[in-house]
Amino acid sequence: MPDTITITDDRTGKSVTVPITDGVFPSSAIRELDPNLYMYDPAYLSTAAARSEITYLDGAAGILRYRGYPIDQLAEHSTYLEVAYLLLNGELPNKVELDAWIEDVTLHTFIHENMRKRFVDGFHYDAHPMGMFISSVAALGTFYDDAKNIHDPQSRHNAIVRLIAKTPTLAAMCYRFSVGLPFNYPDNDLSYPANFLNMMWKIGDYEVHPALERAMDILFILHADHEQNCGTTAMRVVGSSQADPYSAAAAAAAALYGPLHGGANEAVVRMLGDIGDAENVPAFVESVKNGESRLMGFGHRVYKNYDPRAKIIKEAAHDVFEVTGKNPLLDIALKLEEVALEDSYFVDRKLYPNVDFYSGLIYQAMKFPVDMFTVLFAIPRTVGWLAHWEELLNDKDQKISRPRQWYTGPDERDYVPLDQR
Ligand code: SDX
Repeated sequence: MPDTITITDDRTGKSVTVPITDGVFPSSAIRELDPNLYMYDPAYLSTAAARSEITYLDGAAGILRYRGYPIDQLAEHSTYLEVAYLLLNGELPNKVELDAWIEDVTLHTFIHENMRKRFVDGFHYDAHPMGMFISSVAALGTFYDDAKNIHDPQSRHNAIVRLIAKTPTLAAMCYRFSVGLPFNYPDNDLSYPANFLNMMWKIGDYEVHPALERAMDILFILHADHEQNCGTTAMRVVGSSQADPYSAAAAAAAALYGPLHGGANEAVVRMLGDIGDAENVPAFVESVKNGESRLMGFGHRVYKNYDPRAKIIKEAAHDVFEVTGKNPLLDIALKLEEVALEDSYFVDRKLYPNVDFYSGLIYQAMKFPVDMFTVLFAIPRTVGWLAHWEELLNDKDQKISRPRQWYTGPDERDYVPLDQR
């Protein structure tokens, strides 16, 4: 059988046959049949919005690869900054390239003093750190006059390095502000994850525990990219109008903030806290099945199998708990997973634990407040957003994103004066 699809418009008898390549066929087939014919595809359930070489997902098999490298191998052997280089450049760096990349990022971890002294003080004392983070990322672009020079490779590189280097600093700044603690400046003698933990927690003598440093690095690797997810789609849509990358990244972070997306890790821990005890799990599961509750941290648009990241995070949790002590919510989570994976409601809908189901337990054990969890997702996802942004700018197929609609509103009608309504 040929790898083609033939679409016939029965209204005209006109047919068009186009190739199917890797499960995708060009929408030009539809335009060829009738330029005023559109596919109705809310939430893009059946739409490939981009051609990408960055991340590969196989939802049925539970496979995730960055530039062809399996996520479990990268989590075991790599570091976040090495993975960031891979996502951006397509190849793992050699020693010289990696050292230069690390130095480039390290030298850009500081933020302008006006961000710390004036901008952040504009927030209310109990502002949610994710709201502060989104605003800070957008504001960051106002400090660089080359922010809009998106067609200049050096300006793009500058913005990419600044955003990767400064998002941990912004995140820590938002946290320290929210708890009324003095800001810690970056310590460029520390690794990327250690520097972040140091900025977050340092009061007096503070040493980053190597096991927590490594766990942070693994979590950053696992959250770095995930093809055309909601936040990355936002980055691509905003980037397609040729907005600056700081504004586009702020839009991506705003999309990530939603509880159905990156906000799920915060929602999972609140859900586990509300369940309160493993013996309450069966009753909670029933409330999910009758539509009263949603099992946060379960389900995925692509994975109809176990999210490979969830497996790795579940293993990493034990290393963290060795240092911090076990998170009491873990037993509830394990019971919830056990009950759900044996229940036809979840099995029939192919609902398995996703990246957010266990990550929050680690963050909480590491003493991160729950309202920082989505910020912890946004820090590493910044490189994924930027890799897709640059790929979009270099893709000759891409134009400004501007979908059409299925109009179901009223037909033409005349204005009715106020005294006649
Ligand atoms: C992330 O896209 C990405 O790659 C995202 C991400 C990334 O790295 O960027 O992987 C990160 O966002 C992970 C997902 C985190 N979100 C959550 O954990 C929130 C809980 N999960 C869901 O709300 C849901 O599963 C989604 C949003 C993740 C996916 O939703 P879909 O693909 O739109 O599926 P759906 O809502 O149409 O659900 C299909 C069925 C429905 O039942 P029926 O109406 O057919 O009876 O499954 C049910 C849903 O009600 N369902 C759930 C459920 N998720 C789906 N029922 C209970 N609990 C859930 N969690």
